Amino acid sequence: MMITVDKSLFLSSGGERDVYTHPQDSSKVIKVLKSSSNILKLPENKRRQLNDNLLDDYYFRLIEGRVSNFSHITRCYGLIETDLGQGLVADRVANFDGSEITDMYDAVSAGLLTDSQEEKLIHELADYLTDNRIIFADAYLTNVLLQKTGQNSYRLVIIDGLGLRKRDIKSWLHLHVGIINRIRVKRQAERIISRYFMLKAELADNKDKK
Ligand SMILES: Nc1ncnc2c1ncn2[C@@H]1O[C@H](COP(=O)(O)OP(=O)(O)O)[C@@H](O)[C@H]1O
Ligand SMILES: [Mg+2]
Repeated sequence: MMITVDKSLFLSSGGERDVYTHPQDSSKVIKVLKSSSNILKLPENKRRQLNDNLLDDYYFRLIEGRVSNFSHITRCYGLIETDLGQGLVADRVANFDGSEITDMYDAVSAGLLTDSQEEKLIHELADYLTDNRIIFADAYLTNVLLQKTGQNSYRLVIIDGLGLRKRDIKSWLHLHVGIINRIRVKRQAERIISRYFMLKAELADNKDKK
């Protein structure tokens, strides 16, 4: 069945995809490749290897059987046909009060939280990834949303960049060989923590210069 994306439900876009609220279920989003995406210019076989929708769907199906706690990632519900091309359906991350959601990069830059709140959230996220053996390949703060779950409570949710961004032999080893997988999981979890502290240092630096 072909779904027509309601263009007025546009949420946001990243480098590769436009994201819309699902017209039939507001708890979900549909992600479609941007028409300007460089991927669409590649030959079919390359396109399949780099298509974020396929990579997201592939990795989610790989882990969904063994992971039971989805509190810091979005579930994927598979690929569908839309009037804007192939779409990936996933959980929508929303604030409890319906206010506009920000990613962690913007939230830290804007100083929305205290340092200790931020550090607690970042460590919670890193521990979640390690405990559940989930690889955060593109471990950037822009791929993490700061979800407001109550008046003064927050949770970090990864909306993009899980698994591996390629489908080659090295990636296969990282995904399927226990010890190699664990090392990669840990390295990526440490990476999100260090990117957070790098941003903090940068912000402090800019403040000093003023
Ligand atoms: N599950 C989601 N719930 C709410 N907003 C989302 C969700 N996924 C993506 N977004 C919004 O859309 C933007 C782009 O999505 P993303 O998956 O990062 O696309 P890209 O592959 O282009 O980087 C995000 O920065 C975020 O603001
Ligand atoms: Mg992104």
